[in-house]
Amino acid sequence: MFLWLKALHIIAVVTWFAALFYLPRLFVYHAMADATDLAGRERFKVMERKLYRGIMTPSAIAVFVLGVWLLALNWDFYRTQGWMHAKLALVFLLYGYHGLCGRFLRDFANDRNTRSHVFYRVFNELPVLVLVAVVILVVVRPFGSG
Ligand code: HEM
Repeated sequence: MFLWLKALHIIAVVTWFAALFYLPRLFVYHAMADATDLAGRERFKVMERKLYRGIMTPSAIAVFVLGVWLLALNWDFYRTQGWMHAKLALVFLLYGYHGLCGRFLRDFANDRNTRSHVFYRVFNELPVLVLVAVVILVVVRPFGSG
């Protein structure tokens, strides 16, 4: 049971990150699109909306439900583990990032984006840092009980 949940958790993490990496990349291209290219801009809006609603948010919910389920199965252990506390703090930030993506998506949908493609290029790199840190925390467990 635990291992099945963990496998599903990791699958959901992978699909979530696929979208977390690709949506801000679409924002980069969308921010660079010519103001007169109406068809192109509308196409970006559809791609962004479908990615966010169809993949990114369902994956984030699956990661959360499966993660909390895993936590509940061994709560007395995880509650004492520093690596899990650090992981959950970073994951909390990642949900904030997800929410920001939703806000930027709405700005684009309403033709109200004012941020540059350079902003979105930098923004696009942030989930990489979380991914690297969380995988090291859960696999290496550099600090345990504390
Ligand atoms: C609400 C969010 C989350 C919760 C509550 C949660 C909780 C958990 C729990 C309890 C485990 C089992 C740990 C063990 O092996 O004993 C686990 C495994 C794992 N989680 Fe999460 N997680 C969440 C989000 C994430 C995210 C965002 C990532 C990636 C950035 C992630 C990556 C992993 C990985 C790679 C494993 C497998 C670790 C291993 O077995 O070596 N989790 N998670």
